Amino acid sequence: MPSVSGRVVCVTGAGGFIASWMVKLLLEKGYTVRGTVRNPADDQKNFHLRELEGAKERLTLCKADLLDYGSLREAINGCDGVFHTASPVTDDPEQMVEPAVIGTRNVIIAASEAKVRRVVFTSSIGAVYMDPHRHPDQVVDETCWSDLDFCQNTKNWYCYGKAVAEKAAWEVAKEKEVDLVVVNPVLVLGPLLQPTVNASIVHILKYLTGVVKTYANSVQAYVHVRDVALAHILVYETPAASGRYLCAESVLHRGEVVEILSKFFPEYPIPTKCSDETKPRAKAYKFSNLKLKDLGLEFTSVKQCLYDTVRSLQEKGHLPLPTQNDESLRIHS
Ligand SMILES: NC(=O)c1ccc[n+]([C@@H]2O[C@H](COP(=O)([O-])OP(=O)(O)OC[C@H]3O[C@@H](n4cnc5c(N)ncnc54)[C@H](OP(=O)(O)O)[C@@H]3O)[C@@H](O)[C@H]2O)c1
Repeated sequence: MPSVSGRVVCVTGAGGFIASWMVKLLLEKGYTVRGTVRNPADDQKNFHLRELEGAKERLTLCKADLLDYGSLREAINGCDGVFHTASPVTDDPEQMVEPAVIGTRNVIIAASEAKVRRVVFTSSIGAVYMDPHRHPDQVVDETCWSDLDFCQNTKNWYCYGKAVAEKAAWEVAKEKEVDLVVVNPVLVLGPLLQPTVNASIVHILKYLTGVVKTYANSVQAYVHVRDVALAHILVYETPAASGRYLCAESVLHRGEVVEILSKFFPEYPIPTKCSDETKPRAKAYKFSNLKLKDLGLEFTSVKQCLYDTVRSLQEKGHLPLPTQNDESLRIHS
């Protein structure tokens, strides 16, 4: 049963991987949702949103671009809350930085004009952990910020753009007295609602198609897309929520990822060799997800994340189905 009918919220970039899950869960909770998309007339791209339970009654798709303030103002006006998730996801500096930063400023200014109750901004671990000066034993948590010079020098324009956009969000929110809460997800996996494969899913897909022959000697933190969407709603609905929330389940070496994948899905040409066996194996960094756990979020295991991702890629036709009996694919936690 809807618990909060009557509350109107805006989700920017509604058709994206994470935002589609937010729209789905918000509709299930009874919210009325205004989703911004760049082209509401694109039926192929928006079909999955229009098919969500409750969409016919309570979802409106509004045309908006991050660089077009008027379009955002129109979508946000009359909303009680805003989930600002739209952002380019690329390492091309020209496509990344300006839309991420100007778009975020535009959304918060429009939210201030509309007097919304709270803005929840989807930042990233990229704004948190890119710091060469951090001691290996230091716990990565909400107090950490990526080093902007390091991001620039290493040409990590995605992390640079997300860090500068988050800084801009805090600055404008303070200036305009907007109640802002930020979620910083790590690499997000899980079932896709949208028809296309987004960047974080490619990270796993590449290990299953034979395009990569080795795995890197590096580590990565993971979280389930449903948990990321739930985290946004939780911080929106909890009046006492404030500041940043690191949204992470676990950190794995790439070697552990391919090992889990090949246990579940032995039919695929999953790499078995590390690209750099001369150096010591990279160690997982320590992190804290206590702030979200304290709000009641129970994280899905990374094994389940990997399993759900591959099953979804198969169901959506992005990966050929294995010929073997499906029984062998059942999760063993
Ligand atoms: N997936 C992850 O691992 C991960 C981890 C941490 C943080 N995040 C953050 O989560 C958010 C969503 O990421 P995602 O993985 O769901 O990516 P996604 O599927 O690529 O979604 C990005 C969304 O942003 C929209 N967008 C991009 N540029 C825009 C512009 N100029 N104007 C309006 N909309 C624009 C896209 O619209 P179109 O469909 O029209 O291009 C798309 O709906 C991003 O802020 C990303 O930085 C993602």
